Amino acid sequence: PISRADTVTLPPEYIWTVVNAWGDPIVAGGPEFRHDAGQSAADQALQAGMHHDGMNYFPLPKGSNSSNHGLLAVNFEYTDDGLLHTDGMEDWSAEKVQKSKNAHGIGVMEVQFDGETWRVVKNSRYGRRITADTPFLIKGPAAGHPLMQTEFDPTGRTALGTWNNCAHGVTPWGTYLSCEENVTPYFIARSGKVSRMLDRYGVDAKSWGFRWHEFDPRFDADLHPNEPNRHGWVVEVDPFDPTRPPVKHTAMGRMAHENAALSIARDGRVVYYMGDDDFRSRFEHIYKFVSARPYVQGGGYEENQDVLDEGTLYAARFDADGTGEWIELTQGKHGLAPEAGFSSQAQVVIDARTAGDLVGATYMDRPEWVTVHPLTKEVFCTLSNNTSRGKGAPLGKTDALGADAANPRAPNLMGHIIRWREAGGDPASTRFEWDIFVQAGDPGHKDPLKRGTADLAFAQPDGLYIDRRGVLWIQTDSSAQNMASPDWENIGNNQMLAADPATDELRRFLVGPPGCEITGMIETPDLRTLLVNIQHRGEMPQPHPPRDDPRNPRA
Ligand code: FEO
Ligand code: CA
Ligand code: CA
Repeated sequence: PISRADTVTLPPEYIWTVVNAWGDPIVAGGPEFRHDAGQSAADQALQAGMHHDGMNYFPLPKGSNSSNHGLLAVNFEYTDDGLLHTDGMEDWSAEKVQKSKNAHGIGVMEVQFDGETWRVVKNSRYGRRITADTPFLIKGPAAGHPLMQTEFDPTGRTALGTWNNCAHGVTPWGTYLSCEENVTPYFIARSGKVSRMLDRYGVDAKSWGFRWHEFDPRFDADLHPNEPNRHGWVVEVDPFDPTRPPVKHTAMGRMAHENAALSIARDGRVVYYMGDDDFRSRFEHIYKFVSARPYVQGGGYEENQDVLDEGTLYAARFDADGTGEWIELTQGKHGLAPEAGFSSQAQVVIDARTAGDLVGATYMDRPEWVTVHPLTKEVFCTLSNNTSRGKGAPLGKTDALGADAANPRAPNLMGHIIRWREAGGDPASTRFEWDIFVQAGDPGHKDPLKRGTADLAFAQPDGLYIDRRGVLWIQTDSSAQNMASPDWENIGNNQMLAADPATDELRRFLVGPPGCEITGMIETPDLRTLLVNIQHRGEMPQPHPPRDDPRNPRA
């Protein structure tokens, strides 16, 4: 059943335990969490960051199938600075900025199952934190381009840090991919005078209130207009070697990445599907990257470290007849010419959104996670919601965007999941067929736009993952404000469902505590443990309902 209980609810055959939380030490020497939030910025750099999101489990020993010992690579998406510091955001300081930056990024931790409980291994040699200041190598077509050069890095080949790491991906050679999502709201351009491209990527006179620019000039886009170009990429981390520098892969395109879902083409080329979920612009595209050459099967990172440096980026057009096309985003093709601002492939990948606009890619309802069926290679993508559809011209666009075949509800409050099959079953194809797998909603709702197509109530799908048996796991991310509204009366807290794509059967599996989002999941090889992230439990709706109102998660 749905739930509003302040706990994690599971079927009776299952139990849950907490494996890792914000502030738990994961790097050797890291201090224990302090409930007064009194840990310093330096402490935070050795502890788990805030707001766990996408993650992957890598068995130990490396290459084994162990289900009780492994490495967990986890994204820490963003911070709630009101909770991060003992006195919240009062007396904002360089130390608070540093702590906030150190609570962002990625963590690698060694985990062990003793038959009852999972624990993080203390002082593991694998323990690692990557923060908003960790040096990254920039690789691919944008590396070294003038648009990537800054005062701090005149070479355009080394960027500092990663943040707003949303969901994840894996490579066939055993490394972890982490996807930078809403990176630009951390910058500010007080002048309001920004280039067309910075505007397209949402850099403006407002920031999201992270206030890093007050103590780090790197985040002042008036002073350093190229710094935002160095973020918004898919990054690669070797979880087994904490000394190896992480890499930003520019060939895969720059956007508000959700995740990077791996598929392998017939000839062994590596394929990634990627959603662009810009929180503010809402209408963005779905992308695909196909590597130029096959990966070395059985090879490790050494043999495959250049595979993602070169390849073809595509954006998707979904046609009303149920077919679609991947349109190549290659300089010199489909109008991506100097007159349109594209003199090099570097410009195409840095400004991938504009390239997608120019070639006629479809504007989707906030494309979030993508997942690939391990047996059929069918692809599924969540479209979380888009209440701006059908309501005049969206941000940065001149024409109103109403309902279309692939985004059939205007406004789309509840979200849907789209599915496609590549022509000939080959992930490298440029044609596909698609359909809508499910529309979310409350089947009992009086408004047909909020009803959905399933007989089970759920809303705003986000996390999506098909396990090795072909069970499709769906995680929801409704805002606290939405969950407090009457439309959620029969939906309740955010939850996790299991679907069988062969029969369309859908069951509710897990319900989270009030205010939280359910995001990030990975199973152990024996399918006995499912790791799931509970993000921002207790988040309050704005404006807050009264304290004694059951819709108030802190009631
Ligand atoms: Fe980080 Fe689109 O969720
Ligand atoms: Ca998400
Ligand atoms: Ca979301």
